[in-house]
Amino acid sequence: MATLPAGYPEQAFDAFAYLKSRTELSVEDMQVLAMIECFGEAFYFLLADNVKNDEAKALLTRNGQEERGHAHRLLKAIKLKSGTDFELPPNEENPFFKFCPTELACDDAILAALVQGEADGDLVYQVWADHEKDSKVADLLRLNGREETRHGERVAEVTKLLAA
Ligand SMILES: [Fe+2]
Ligand SMILES: [Fe+2]
Repeated sequence: MATLPAGYPEQAFDAFAYLKSRTELSVEDMQVLAMIECFGEAFYFLLADNVKNDEAKALLTRNGQEERGHAHRLLKAIKLKSGTDFELPPNEENPFFKFCPTELACDDAILAALVQGEADGDLVYQVWADHEKDSKVADLLRLNGREETRHGERVAEVTKLLAA
């Protein structure tokens, strides 16, 4: 099991909230964030599992795949900043998966929370990018942020599809 550096909350959403208090990310923060993004992938896949509407399922799956992409962008950012590779732990060894539900009902409350969370995610990625000295790293952070907004739009679409 990979371990979290000292001081980070053990639950993925709490750890993300904790990182939101930063204006600038350290390499260690990026490592934690990459593991949160992997949790995000699994979270979307779990939601997609419980959705019958094919279009909604595809949108949630797409979001999940892009969360994995965000983790990979963060690996590039880590390499640029530190010169060393960080390897993502497999999900079974990702510390955030200790609290990953085995099943997740895709209800309105969770969808609304995700729309808000994704919008906040974009905002905070832009803040981190604004404070990043390496412009290549900043670009990677901005790309992740922009996609979080798209995720929120897809989740809003899922809400409509499931209400119809
Ligand atoms: Fe993400
Ligand atoms: Fe997202």
